Amino acid sequence: MILIIDFGSQYNQLIARRVREHHVYCQIEPPNITPAAIKTLNPEGIILSGGPASIYEKNSPKADSAIFDLGIPVLGICYGMHFMMAALGGIVQSSGKREYGFAELTIKKPDGLFKGLDKKSTCWMSHGDSIDKLPAGFKIAASTASTKAAAAVHAKKKLYAVQYHPEVAHTQLGKKMLRNFLYDVCGCKRSWTMKTFARDSIEEIRQTAGNKKVILGLSGGVDSSVTAMLIHNSIGKKLTCIFVDNGLLRKNEAQKLKVTLKRHLDINIRFVNARSQFLKPLAKVTDPEKKRKIIGRIFMQVFEAEARGIKGAEYLAQGTLYPDVIESVSAFGGPTSVIKSHHNVGGLPKKMKLKLIEPLKYLFKDEVRLLGKELGLPQELIWRQPFPGPGLAIRILGEITPRRLNILRNVDDLLLEEIKIAGYYKKLWQSFAVLLPIKSVGVMGDQRTYEYIVALRAVTSKDAMTADWAKLPHKFLGRISNRIINEVKGVNRVVYDISSKPPSTIEWE
Ligand code: XMP
Repeated sequence: MILIIDFGSQYNQLIARRVREHHVYCQIEPPNITPAAIKTLNPEGIILSGGPASIYEKNSPKADSAIFDLGIPVLGICYGMHFMMAALGGIVQSSGKREYGFAELTIKKPDGLFKGLDKKSTCWMSHGDSIDKLPAGFKIAASTASTKAAAAVHAKKKLYAVQYHPEVAHTQLGKKMLRNFLYDVCGCKRSWTMKTFARDSIEEIRQTAGNKKVILGLSGGVDSSVTAMLIHNSIGKKLTCIFVDNGLLRKNEAQKLKVTLKRHLDINIRFVNARSQFLKPLAKVTDPEKKRKIIGRIFMQVFEAEARGIKGAEYLAQGTLYPDVIESVSAFGGPTSVIKSHHNVGGLPKKMKLKLIEPLKYLFKDEVRLLGKELGLPQELIWRQPFPGPGLAIRILGEITPRRLNILRNVDDLLLEEIKIAGYYKKLWQSFAVLLPIKSVGVMGDQRTYEYIVALRAVTSKDAMTADWAKLPHKFLGRISNRIINEVKGVNRVVYDISSKPPSTIEWE
């Protein structure tokens, strides 16, 4: 495995993805991880991420410099390079000027990280500080016109440092450099596959839960479905899933899911109809965060009440993914502000005194889908687009009324039908409709109309952290708009959302 020490780079997840693409397992940990904890993890290599700080700043993050004496190869990237250089006696210069963008990289020492690579290539720079003096034993391994020490190496100690970002696609040979680091420098094996993950994870769950009962909240989304499959394959009928219909699902979704889940997953599922429990307290609530809080609270109540009926349950399973774990770690440890309060990792078990099982907590979404495939989950479950826990409540801006829910369900149903027929469903991260709480004037036949507006949102994304609006063909959008206005009573205007995340978010609330 590879240990990634996170100095706060916006690219830290990207580094992890790149490592895993080479079939090597990796874990991201904060800078205060102790050398003893590192020894326990027993990594083949360490990567020090970049970060926004300047190394000589008062509170800049630092790791224990003993990591360089553990005999483990280290690769420092950008701020990670500055930390390595400063910790080992080099000097980092705060230039005050930022170098940002492409640069031509010339390799001076074609071994280790650079073995077998072309002498010249482009790399991606994003830094203010640079290296003024290398520590003893280090040599310059690559340069650009403006940065002499674009890469430095201490070959004997297997310490590598690069000023540019090998993890971003703009660095032409970045992937090959990481490959060299993983396989040649660290001697990693290509052992990280979903087949081995499934095997190990099933065994681990069996060891942990033994013959105790496990409860899981099943939403029908890919994360909870894969979690269910994995645990079921491990402990069979000792797993009970609870599906809560909160009245905020899409058209006929609860019924459709019931059929699909029963057909494909031969597991214990309890279906709970809690529609009125959710809808009553939501009446007249317009603030998105209040909506989320109410939905979260009622969900806990409903889930708890149902779980109480499962005698002897000791564990609660959750389909938490790695990005949620990383996000909630940095949200607690750093200045990151909460944009939307939906990453309530670990809220339930505290209240219910259950122990937590989170078998997917080190996986990214694309890995979860591969795992689902490995476990034989049907395509229609593997490729379901993410759907937020608060459901249509955060897609009806303002007050949630039965009429608005009905309109949005019909629009959403029609939109998804068209998206699926046209073959876009799998290509889009999410595609959905939003009902705006305002009306506009229209004309149908000879009649004046005064009805709601809906916004269509379709985005592409890898992990929902960033997203781009989908460039769907105008003709296709035109057809959907026509159908919505003609077929759904209560809507006379359709608009298409052309904002990306950031600065917008995927959901409107
Ligand atoms: P945003 O809107 O923050 O969404 O760009 C990122 C991803 O998270 C989903 N989302 C939620 N999921 N509870 C959830 O379970 C929520 O309150 C919530 N809000 C947003 C959103 O659909 C997207 O996939």
